[in-house]
Amino acid sequence: MIIKELELHNFRNYKSLNLEFSQSINVIYGKNGYGKTNLLEAMFLCCIGKSFKAIKDEELIQYGENSYKVKIRTGDSLCNSISVYYEKNKSKYIEIDGVYIDKLRMLFGNLIGIMFSPESMRIVTDGPLYRRKLLDIALCQIKKDYYFSLMMYNKFCKEKGILLEQRRSGDDLELEVINEKIAEYGSAIAVDRYEFVKQLNEIAGKYYSFIFDKEESVTMRYYPYIHSLNAAIGEKAAAGDMSEFSVEKVKNAFLEELSDERLKKRERDFGKNLIGIQRDDIGMDLGGNSLRSFGSQGQKRSYAIAIKMAELEVLREKSGRTPVLFLDDVLSELDNTRKSKIVELTKNIQTIYTCTDREMMRPSNTGNIPVNFIDVEKLR
Ligand SMILES: Nc1ncnc2c1ncn2[C@@H]1O[C@H](COP(=O)(O)OP(=O)(O)O)[C@@H](O)[C@H]1O
Ligand SMILES: [Mg+2]
Repeated sequence: MIIKELELHNFRNYKSLNLEFSQSINVIYGKNGYGKTNLLEAMFLCCIGKSFKAIKDEELIQYGENSYKVKIRTGDSLCNSISVYYEKNKSKYIEIDGVYIDKLRMLFGNLIGIMFSPESMRIVTDGPLYRRKLLDIALCQIKKDYYFSLMMYNKFCKEKGILLEQRRSGDDLELEVINEKIAEYGSAIAVDRYEFVKQLNEIAGKYYSFIFDKEESVTMRYYPYIHSLNAAIGEKAAAGDMSEFSVEKVKNAFLEELSDERLKKRERDFGKNLIGIQRDDIGMDLGGNSLRSFGSQGQKRSYAIAIKMAELEVLREKSGRTPVLFLDDVLSELDNTRKSKIVELTKNIQTIYTCTDREMMRPSNTGNIPVNFIDVEKLR
């Protein structure tokens, strides 16, 4: 799957733009502030229906305008074009091959993308939010019901919060019904996340050694905020057991925890749902120590890239299609050997790089792979 063409109207700093891409390496280069990241943002928007950086769609509309439009054409017969249109104070309008889709989840999987931006380093350096975001963006794109479960889970957590605010004491049938729903959707999400992290871990370790060029091992493990599941994962890992968890089992264990009287009391005191997948994390370990606390810059960067390469491999395997890879500003952080390694890893994948200087991608890095250079300063 490739992006052949991008069309923008009143998107960020672009009034009107038509841009073509080649099927292998594309390098968008130019000074900072000229709109390189904006281009990747627009293309990734067609993958997940949302910006990877802005929270509100208003921010994407060109200053002083009322709406934006992004359209991409692919080389794929199953989905030839995707367009996203947004007008202030209205809901987003998404079309696939000219047909309006009324649910965001119908967009997922049509164009699968992997984004590595400077922000992605936060997966290894910052709090759990960034690791959950990694899981959600990846899983939404390959599992049809993941996004739906996530929406439903959040909806019931919100309802639970309101109920706890209203009624601070007594037994409550309504609360039990909501907990049942939270357990149902939460367990489905937890099992998907467990499976995904397990696969990422197997592959990322291999990429890490290749990129970092050292025989040291970094591993990752899923830490669900469902205590019994977390303990069970720990036991399985210790026993080298790679079998799967059933959603039903996880659901029952989760529900049992949610029904604990002490927890219920605490939840009434706090007025919110205290356990569950909204507090999940992924632990990363470097030879027995936490990568986040003990890893060097180089080790963290190599692992962050390795995670993304692993994500690409898992998404490709699960979807049967090759994702498009967006690498925003990574070239400046890599030495020549590593650049060549990344090119080697991505040689059969449409990759769109951004960098400040054309010289950051040299023939010595790319060999005989043709490179499509795009000068961002000429696009305005
Ligand atoms: N809504 C908007 N309307 C117009 N210009 C915008 C908007 N949002 C951001 N910009 C402009 O986009 C530029 C930043 O683009 P960006 O893609 O981050 O640059 P680069 O990645 O090349 O450094 C800034 O000059 C900023 O003023
Ligand atoms: Mg940028």
